[in-house]
Amino acid sequence: MTILHLRRARTSLVLDARGPGLPRVVHWGGDVGDLDDEGLRQLTDATVPPVVPSSFDEPAVLSLLPEPSAGWSGRPGLAGHRDGRDWSTAFRLDGLDVDQPADAPARVVVRASDPAAGLALTIELTLDRRGLLTIRHRLRNDGDGAYELRELTPVLPVPAVATELLDLTGRWCRERSPQRHPWQHGAWVREGRHGRTGHDATLLLVAGTPGFGFGHGEVWAVHTAWSGDHVTFAERRPTGESTLGGGELLAPGEIRLGPGESYDTPLLYAVWSDAGLDGLSDVLHSHLRARPGHPRSPRPVTLNVWEAVYFDHDLDRLRALADRAAQIGVERFVLDDGWFRGRRDDTAGLGDWYVDEGVWPDGLQPLIDHVTGQGLQFGLWVEPEMVNPDSDLFRAHRDWLLAVPGRLPPAWRNQQALDLGRPEAYDYVLERLDALLSDHRGISYLKWDQNRDLTEAGHHGRPGVHGQTAAVYRLLDELRGRHPGVEIESCSSGGARVDLAILARTDRVWASDCNDALERLAIQRWTGLLLPPELIGTHIGPERSHTTHRVHDLGFRAATALFGHHGIEWDIASISAAEQAELAAWVALHKRLRPLLHAGRVVRVDHPDPAVWAHGVVAGDKTQAVYAVARLATSVTQVPGAVRLPGLDPDRRYRVRPAADVPAPATIDRSTPIWLATGVTLTGAALARVGVQVPALHPEQSLILEVDTVD
Ligand code: DGJ
Repeated sequence: MTILHLRRARTSLVLDARGPGLPRVVHWGGDVGDLDDEGLRQLTDATVPPVVPSSFDEPAVLSLLPEPSAGWSGRPGLAGHRDGRDWSTAFRLDGLDVDQPADAPARVVVRASDPAAGLALTIELTLDRRGLLTIRHRLRNDGDGAYELRELTPVLPVPAVATELLDLTGRWCRERSPQRHPWQHGAWVREGRHGRTGHDATLLLVAGTPGFGFGHGEVWAVHTAWSGDHVTFAERRPTGESTLGGGELLAPGEIRLGPGESYDTPLLYAVWSDAGLDGLSDVLHSHLRARPGHPRSPRPVTLNVWEAVYFDHDLDRLRALADRAAQIGVERFVLDDGWFRGRRDDTAGLGDWYVDEGVWPDGLQPLIDHVTGQGLQFGLWVEPEMVNPDSDLFRAHRDWLLAVPGRLPPAWRNQQALDLGRPEAYDYVLERLDALLSDHRGISYLKWDQNRDLTEAGHHGRPGVHGQTAAVYRLLDELRGRHPGVEIESCSSGGARVDLAILARTDRVWASDCNDALERLAIQRWTGLLLPPELIGTHIGPERSHTTHRVHDLGFRAATALFGHHGIEWDIASISAAEQAELAAWVALHKRLRPLLHAGRVVRVDHPDPAVWAHGVVAGDKTQAVYAVARLATSVTQVPGAVRLPGLDPDRRYRVRPAADVPAPATIDRSTPIWLATGVTLTGAALARVGVQVPALHPEQSLILEVDTVD
């Protein structure tokens, strides 16, 4: 066995795999250079901690699966037992498969076993060419009798210089709220027990050097790619180790491995950067964009009719909306909730996936034809995992619920979850979705919603969240296999199902049900930590937000929605001619900038005034960029300081000017800086280090700046 060095981009992972136990992680972080065997041995020796008084006689080994038998007294990587026995392991290294092709991800498979405990472990690691690390553990029961698995979690060490933690929390309409604190002794454990990813899920758990920001600091982060119950944690021990980890949260009895059976953990994504949070996003965004299944076509500007009509489905009204949408430049029309049998409000109908004959006497085809006849794509809302007790499906198959025997889980939005682990329920849902797509000409998009937490989610008397999550993945995979041209949006009461496992089988997420542009600035900024703009649905809502009652100018709403998969969620049939013209101008601006917005590098500005936010997207070749400067509130300081525009080529000269085709934002009288009328030409270095003064914007106004190279 050997000491392994995986190197990609500017990231190194060094593993002491000399055995006899599981490999020790010597280093995960910045590149340590081209080390020969002796260099790796010296590095390994240099990182072995001393033995101190009142401790084990040998230094503890922190492996990718920390074990008490190796002297680890922090959170163990594995918890489980075989009827009270085999509860502690001492895995022995059996072999390594290492593959480091120049043009593909480096890959290591670690094979280990503990014959006494009757368990075999496989650890798969990949380091892609951008430096993104993924880890997955597989545990196989090689013993006699069932092994009950309680937890299996990959863990990575982080050096002591990381002293601060940042993660995200949230709720409905306020997803992805950052929280930050010093990293002290103990475990910071983010558990999601929602049976879905959750509004409060931390997309990334970040540890970093003091004061790290968007553009500076050394940072390490993990993401647990699982859409069911899960945990992501950071642990700092008084013994000196700091770790990040994440995996699935398993209920008692949920995973019982029979002899020969195995369990795979979700993928744990891990990323390091010495360029702050933007550096992390860079690696993640470019990894996602390189996936074969990443959406390649221009992301169609979308009209979703939910906030325009809610459940009030009327063919003529919807046709009029489609006509107006086409005039404005919309490219996709999505018919939201309310089209199926009995669905006149949110108390009934879920499960009965047949077009409501009362509301749609001629079916959906006339609307679909009208929409597609205008050159727009047609999308349809579904919520396949759910059932209303007031539905034919429920009346016929009350036993198809995800529930414990004898009682229903507490109702949530008047609905219950179907047990998709039951083949008959699964087959019914698949057949209905398949039929909807096959029987209609022209449905090319599904908005796939999921609107409740899974509570007491029983499957044949046993815990069912794991099986349900796997069944949803299977269902999506199977449907996509049958209808490869159909795109799918992951929606879950807004942004409660945003993770990289669901995104492996969907084409965008709905970030939040809150279309208030001020709230959305934050929701999008932090969702964008993980996801590139083209995967995040961003819609222009009505003047008065339906969820906060705030009133915003169209310019502020549109400037916020510009930086994503752009759309509209507003009754545009009832807007004035002036609003229509302005909206069309914003849609046109988005389309003009779309190739940049959906392929460029996202930058967020660390401005000292918390009421001034700026973010942008810079083209890969650095010839072009677009930035938004948003004023969130008033400031104590009259002129809060120049706004730096980072990310450009320091040596090139750029022309900076306000976006021409859309109205200027409202500013305090006579407050326009002198350069704004004509634009200004500066080097990328000057723009990053000095920046530009911006007008004194009124609160809740945004200025869009277009930047083009003149060299
Ligand atoms: C919740 C979603 O987040 C909304 O966008 C909308 O589709 C409703 N469900 C429909 O019931």
